[in-house]
Amino acid sequence: MTDLGTVVSDAPVDKRQSPMLSDAHAFKLAVFGVNQRRGTLISSADGTPKATWEDTKAIAQAADRAGIDGLIPLGRWKNMGRDDKQELHRVFETLTWAAGVAAVTERVQVFSTVHTPLVHPVHAAKAMATIDHISGGRFGLNLVAGWNEKEFDVFGLQQREHDVRYEAAEEWLTLIRELWASDEPMDFAGQFYESRGGVSEPAPLQSPEPVIMSAGSSPAGRRFAARNADINFVIVPSIEATPGFVAEARQAADEAGRDVALFSAVVVVCRDTEEEAQAAFHDATQVKGDWRDAGEATASLLGGGADSISVIDRQELELRIMLHSGLPLVGTPEQVVEGMVRLHEAGIGGVAISWVDYLQGIEQFDQQLTPLMVRAGLRSSTEGAPR
Ligand SMILES: Cc1cc2nc3c(=O)[nH]c(=O)nc-3n(C[C@H](O)[C@H](O)[C@H](O)COP(=O)(O)O)c2cc1C
Repeated sequence: MTDLGTVVSDAPVDKRQSPMLSDAHAFKLAVFGVNQRRGTLISSADGTPKATWEDTKAIAQAADRAGIDGLIPLGRWKNMGRDDKQELHRVFETLTWAAGVAAVTERVQVFSTVHTPLVHPVHAAKAMATIDHISGGRFGLNLVAGWNEKEFDVFGLQQREHDVRYEAAEEWLTLIRELWASDEPMDFAGQFYESRGGVSEPAPLQSPEPVIMSAGSSPAGRRFAARNADINFVIVPSIEATPGFVAEARQAADEAGRDVALFSAVVVVCRDTEEEAQAAFHDATQVKGDWRDAGEATASLLGGGADSISVIDRQELELRIMLHSGLPLVGTPEQVVEGMVRLHEAGIGGVAISWVDYLQGIEQFDQQLTPLMVRAGLRSSTEGAPR
């Protein structure tokens, strides 16, 4: 007997209840960049991610158990810096990575960082819906419109002029949304993309669509996020400068009449004493940091016209690029949590965290920092968002 006539109906998942958007915790936490060798650090410090599947799985499952809300990979096609070291190009592709991570975790939101100019929207729509099903409605899109010239060379492409990147990204998302919303094959004829008889079945489980984060904080990047994203992933120059920076980002969201959370990247180096923490940070950056690679990465990003990094003080730029633009939070558990409290008070809704050694960092977070964050009102319990 055949059941070809039976319509499979999927139970929708309300995306506002997802770990990254729900009210479960005032301040959201994600783990950033474990799909790449060395994680987000351009350093040969001991303990950085190996980007093996075993390594990835162990970190993802530790984060899941510790109640961390999100896992965000880097979208990368080769090393940002120099070309001559095979090992530095080691990075997992993020859609397939997220599918694997989704299958071995239970409640964390699993993101893919997707380059809109490099992945066709029809392909992306289907891949993202597939991951949303594998994860039971836990997929998140971190949309990136491109910044690194060298990665476009890999595809034999040139980046579009800065603001046009966001016009194309908007059309990319529009086509995806139409594909997901349509019950039957449809035509789309835009300025940048076309589809004839396009269809993407099944649609994602999350309703009306998966959580969308957009990384880009130039005026055009912010306007794009304000119109299209749930979360804008931004680079903050310093804790002190965050309130002014947030006010500007809020203005873009207000103009679009939408509520967009702000998320930022931090690098946590936490030890029992401040001296130990500063020494470990010094070792990972000044001693073991790969300054040549950081210099080349900085040049490549500046060449690609990435406005986001222009907020960083020129003297600090190479150091911050060595940290993938993350704000360093270095100190005792109390000092690290104090830094997060200040970011929260300034209007940042959560942070994507990198460590030198992620497993150690997550364990320390679970044992020492989360209880302090609960006391500070950033987290409501030591548990993750309920599923
Ligand atoms: C915290 C953060 C992380 C980012 N990670 C990536 C990444 O993994 N891959 C990528 O291609 N771009 C990444 N970007 C770059 C953005 O997509 C964007 O191209 C860049 O911020 C420049 O955009 P803008 O000129 O609109 O500010 C990241 C940006 C931020 C703020």
